[in-house]
Amino acid sequence: MGLADEPDTHAARLMRMLGGKWIVQALAAAAELRLADILTEPLALAELARRAECQPEPLARLLRVLVGEGLLELLPDSRYELTPLGAELRRGALGELAEFVGSPSQWVPWNKLTQSIRTGECAFTASQGQSLFEYLTAHPEEARLYDTAVDAFTRQQAHELANHELMADVQSIVDVGGGRGTLLLELLKRRPNLQGLLVDRPDVVATAAPRFDAAGLKGRYQLFGGDFFEALPEGADCYVIKHVIHNWSDADATKLLCACARAMAPGAKLLVVEGLLLPGNIRDLARYMDLEMLVLTESGKERSKPEFRKLFSRAGLKLASTHSLGLGAWLLVAQSGGGVSGLTRVMCAEQISWPWMRVSVRKVLTSSSPRMRSTSSSSSLPSAMYGCVSSSLRTPIIMPTRTRPPPR
Ligand SMILES: C[S@@+](CC[C@H](N)C(=O)[O-])C[C@H]1O[C@@H](n2cnc3c(N)ncnc32)[C@H](O)[C@@H]1O
Repeated sequence: MGLADEPDTHAARLMRMLGGKWIVQALAAAAELRLADILTEPLALAELARRAECQPEPLARLLRVLVGEGLLELLPDSRYELTPLGAELRRGALGELAEFVGSPSQWVPWNKLTQSIRTGECAFTASQGQSLFEYLTAHPEEARLYDTAVDAFTRQQAHELANHELMADVQSIVDVGGGRGTLLLELLKRRPNLQGLLVDRPDVVATAAPRFDAAGLKGRYQLFGGDFFEALPEGADCYVIKHVIHNWSDADATKLLCACARAMAPGAKLLVVEGLLLPGNIRDLARYMDLEMLVLTESGKERSKPEFRKLFSRAGLKLASTHSLGLGAWLLVAQSGGGVSGLTRVMCAEQISWPWMRVSVRKVLTSSSPRMRSTSSSSSLPSAMYGCVSSSLRTPIIMPTRTRPPPR
C-alpha cells in the first residue's frame, strides 16, 4: 500500500505536511547533482552514478523517492527515465530554484521562525549575521543562485506582462530592482519599439549586459547599478517594480514608491507586480511568501489591496486597477494621484534633499549612494562600476532632461 492509498485522516494529512522536509531536500539534492540535466536519455543506476559523481547505493535511495514523487520512472529494464515533471528540475527551468530553496543560507534561517514570531527579528540576519542583500553581495556564488532562482518565478510572469494590453502604448520602461534583467529582456524581445533601463545593485546589473547583447538588444537597453532608494532615472512612460516592495517595511516601501513617483513622466504609469493577501479562509501562495519575508527580510511582508492603496497614496500615487498574472502574482497599476500626503513629505525628506532638479539620465547614472557603497563593499567591482554599466553611455537613450518641482 502506497502513501496515496492511506486513509485521509487528519493525522495522515499532518504527517504528509511534515514530510515536506524530505521532499524539498530530495528535490534540492537532485537539482544540485544535476540529475535532470544528465538524464537526457534513460540511464542505469551505475551510469547515472558515474555521471553524477555519486555512490550508487545512496543515489538509489534518492532515486526511489524521486520515482515515488513522479519525477522519474523506473523502466522494466531498470533504467531511470525523466518524466515531464522531472524535466522541470533542469537548469534554466526550476533547477536553480530547487537548489536555492534547499541551500543552507535559505534552510538554516527557517530554524529560527519561532524566534522571529516571538521577537519580530529577522531570522536570516539572526543566523547569518547580516541582512540578505549584504550576505548576497558578500557571497557571489550564492548570489548567482539567488538571482537565477528568482528568475524562475520571473520568467513565468514575464510573458503574461509582455502580452498585457497595458503595455501596448509603452515606449520606454524602467525596471526598478529588476535583478539580472529577465523581465526587461522578455519585454524588449516581445515589444520591438520598447526601450528599457534596468536598475539594481551594481554587482547584479553587471551580469546583465551579456544577456541583453546575446538577445540582440544592443542599443535598446541601459543598465543602472545603484541604490533604488536614492534616485531613479527620470522620464520613462512606464516604471515596473516586481517582487521588490515585499522585501521592505512600509516606510522603505513608501520611499521607493516616492522615488518612482518623482521619476515618472506626467501621465506615466507604475506597474507593481506582487502577491496579494486575499481575505478569507483560503490556501494561497501569498501567505507562504509572507512567512518567507518574515524569515528573510528585516521587515518585508506581503500586503493586501487596501494596504497597497495606502502605500500608493502616501507616495502621491493612485491605484488604478489590479490584474491577476497567474501563479499568485498580481499586477497593480498606479498612476499619479495628484497631491502627496504630509506623511510622505516627512518619509521622503531624505530623498527630497537629493539634488534631483534637472536630473538627466547621465547624472543619475553616475550618482553614488552611501547605502549601496556599504552593501557592496566586498564586491569585486571597481568603485567606478558603482554608478553605471551601460550599453551606450554616450547616448542616453531614454529619459529626457527635465525639471520638476519637488512634491509639496
Ligand atoms: C526579490 S528580487 C526581485 C528581482 C526582480 N524584480 C524579479 O522579480 O525577478 C529583489 C531585487 O531588489 C534588488 N535590490 C535590493 N536592494 C536594492 C537597492 N538598495 N537598490 C537596488 N536594488 C536593490 C536585489 O538585488 C534584487 O535583484
